[in-house]
Amino acid sequence: MQKIYVKLKEFPRRYDIKIGKNLLDDCGNWTKNCLHAAPAKIVLISNTKVFGIYGEAVRKSLEAQGFEVFVWLMKDGEKYKNFRVLECALEFICEKKIKRTDTIVALGGGVVGDLAGFAAAIYLRGIAFLQIPTTFLAMIDSSVGGKTGVNTESGKNLIGAFHQPSGVLIDVNTLQTLPRRELTAGFCEAVKQGAIANRKLFNQTAEFLKNFPLNRFKKYFSDKNFLTSLENLLAAQIAFKAEIVMQDEREDVGRTDAKSRKILNFGHTVGHALEKATDYKIFKHGEAVGYGILVAGEIGINTGVFDENEFNLLRDALHSVGKLPETRNINLQRVFEAFSFDKKTIGNSLQWILLEEIGKPKIFRNKDIPKPVIERALKKILQK
Ligand SMILES: NC(=O)c1ccc[n+]([C@@H]2O[C@H](COP(=O)([O-])OP(=O)(O)OC[C@H]3O[C@@H](n4cnc5c(N)ncnc54)[C@H](O)[C@@H]3O)[C@@H](O)[C@H]2O)c1
Ligand SMILES: [Zn+2]
Repeated sequence: MQKIYVKLKEFPRRYDIKIGKNLLDDCGNWTKNCLHAAPAKIVLISNTKVFGIYGEAVRKSLEAQGFEVFVWLMKDGEKYKNFRVLECALEFICEKKIKRTDTIVALGGGVVGDLAGFAAAIYLRGIAFLQIPTTFLAMIDSSVGGKTGVNTESGKNLIGAFHQPSGVLIDVNTLQTLPRRELTAGFCEAVKQGAIANRKLFNQTAEFLKNFPLNRFKKYFSDKNFLTSLENLLAAQIAFKAEIVMQDEREDVGRTDAKSRKILNFGHTVGHALEKATDYKIFKHGEAVGYGILVAGEIGINTGVFDENEFNLLRDALHSVGKLPETRNINLQRVFEAFSFDKKTIGNSLQWILLEEIGKPKIFRNKDIPKPVIERALKKILQK
């Protein structure tokens, strides 16, 4: 079992992220410890799929500790992370007469976590919120850092709030049922975090992928070495994300240094554009980020800031996450146009996060990267 401590300037000033095996059965006790005063009521938000596998264990454990549990389930899928569904969740929360001293618990991937967290952020102007992430991506990324929100017609995650959880519980065993593509997508984000963090985290992630190929992932759960390596990798990934978040909680727009929260968007300029240009139908978010990392690497080479040998390390690590969707038929003009809609911009100026080497990210203004360099990189990576 491992614990990462997150210290913040804002409420709830500090919280723990607990990582271990078979933790769901004891989540009632954990919940009690996370909350200062034991609340009478909990709204457990999940989706039909995840609740079907893990929901009853969580409910039972919470009820055994005396919590009154109300379950609210959303349909499964990114398209349900929207205002209408959020409104239904809030109406349910109102109906149950949830008070400021009560709590929302999110059980699921990033979609459930983002929507439940946003509901917790705006109901009564903010009530306590706990996260039990069940995808690899949600464990290392979306459950850490307090970004919550929903999508709108104009784009993803445009409406939301910063609302930090009061605790995060990660039961590695839940990854046994995660579909293969979701694992691949999550590990693309892990490669990204390693690439911007330092050589140690990058190598640890690459080594893990080499030692435990994702196509046999589920078979390793009886192997003690695997479980230890998995816990260690999760802890190292989360510690890195928490470190960035702690010193730039709200992603200060004025910051352009190498510790700015913006560096977490490495690979995302192209990643988001790819998702948008294909109407969110072809890629899992992490898969699109996988290509985004390669395009950013290629731009780095072509502008002379990044080295070919370093690029090969990135490419090898991404190769071992598995096959990403085919990109040959994607309209590059649409990808290019989609950049301008990326919300990770300051005013109208798009920013690029490139690597000078593994572990050394740098933020560049769009005007510093010649358009033909970007076009060439897109063509080389997506249409080869
Ligand atoms: N808040 C943040 O900082 C942040 C960061 C990154 C991503 N996100 C958001 O996270 C979302 C993506 O999250 P995701 O990748 O977890 O996707 P997701 O929540 O859609 O989950 C992926 C799929 O796996 C299923 N699933 C979840 N856990 C499972 C389990 N243990 N076993 C079997 N199936 C399981 C889900 O039902 C779903 O079908 C996006 O909406 C993205 O915008 C938010
Ligand atoms: Zn991402």
